[in-house]
Amino acid sequence: MLMVDLIKAKRDGGVLNKEEITFIVSEYIKGKIPDYQVSALLMAIYFKGLNKEETLDLTLAMKDSGDVLDLSGIKGVKVDKHSTGGVGDKTTLVLAPMVASIGVPVAKMSGRGLGHTGGTIDKLESIRGFRTDLGEREFIANVNNIGIALMGQTKDLAPADKKLYALRDVTATVDNMSLIASSVMSKKLAAGSDGIVLDVTCGSGAFMKNYEDAKALAEEMVSIGKMSKKKTIAVISDMNEPLGRAVGNALEVREAVNALKGQGEEDLLTLCYELGSYMVMMAGICETKEEGKERLKEAIGDGRAYDKFEEFVKAQGGDADFIDSEDFIKTSIKGDLIAEEEGYISSINCEDVGNASLLLGGGRRSKEDSIDPSVGLVLNKKLGDPVKKGESIATLYANDSCKYNEGLERLKGAFKYSERPFVKEKLIKGIVE
Ligand code: URA
Repeated sequence: MLMVDLIKAKRDGGVLNKEEITFIVSEYIKGKIPDYQVSALLMAIYFKGLNKEETLDLTLAMKDSGDVLDLSGIKGVKVDKHSTGGVGDKTTLVLAPMVASIGVPVAKMSGRGLGHTGGTIDKLESIRGFRTDLGEREFIANVNNIGIALMGQTKDLAPADKKLYALRDVTATVDNMSLIASSVMSKKLAAGSDGIVLDVTCGSGAFMKNYEDAKALAEEMVSIGKMSKKKTIAVISDMNEPLGRAVGNALEVREAVNALKGQGEEDLLTLCYELGSYMVMMAGICETKEEGKERLKEAIGDGRAYDKFEEFVKAQGGDADFIDSEDFIKTSIKGDLIAEEEGYISSINCEDVGNASLLLGGGRRSKEDSIDPSVGLVLNKKLGDPVKKGESIATLYANDSCKYNEGLERLKGAFKYSERPFVKEKLIKGIVE
């Protein structure tokens, strides 16, 4: 088979068969097809798309490019959760211990930040001593002993997705529905859970900017899940402003801990209860969504969810007390973005907010960059809030004055104001079952 023929076929709107897709994926990870040819193919896919069958074939070829985890050693129904990416999205930090505290076994693999979006592994690593590089045995033992373990994606799990994602990131081919669906689902199928709850984000901070595209992505992923005999459901959630107020690794961990202690931001908790209720239903713990939400609220209210978080952090070598200490968020520079006009916040470019945090030092400009866990920003105003001239819109944390100025400049451009009160959209926009 000649790669150039396959590129030409896709460029001209043709359909690739299973054998051709498997050939591309397996030869690419062996290093037998160069990046420039795969880049050309990705761009052809970006413009011509993949049909359902091609998307499924690509998903399965990427899943089978490495190990498929065997979680049969864990008792109970294992339910995984995945978000298609957002800004200030700390749901996993709240959701995982919360559902674990009422009996859902959580064996979760998470990723690092990508572009303007944050990653759970980077967030957890801001906790002193916390280890995300568990081996498979320790991972399974922790779930059996305390009901929860979380680790970074190993290099052996869907390695084709890892390699292709890195290439998509630098060839402007990330925000394509079929490529996102196959990327997410290849990892989820390889991670070995019995059920999958997807959070498909939609808006200025998400890869899918409008509801129709987000719904199509959700349907595509749910159908791949079903065809692979995994219970799968997707919640479509709004990402036109960051979730909660904090954006930045340690800042988000502290906000998540506050939520686990019962002082959570409303949007963050609403999304966690929504996703969590589907997780507990899939795990067979509750019959209805309402009952699920009630049980989860009780777990927050009586402290079980936070206790589970503490237990989980300790089991992975971390120091949960450190999160409450001053040193956890200690930066040499702290300043505010001040409103220069009066009105109501009518738009927040969430991608700019994520990039402001990245520029402050909280994300990676290139793959090799290290990140500064303490830096980031906290929004003092969100969509629809009234603002007076001179008020603080956000507080920024940095350790380098050049980075501070870059971050502040980017953040400034993220806000728009209206004279009239502004009503924001619903957080939960739809469910695809
Ligand atoms: N998250 C993923 O895992 N893959 C994508 O392609 C986009 C978001």
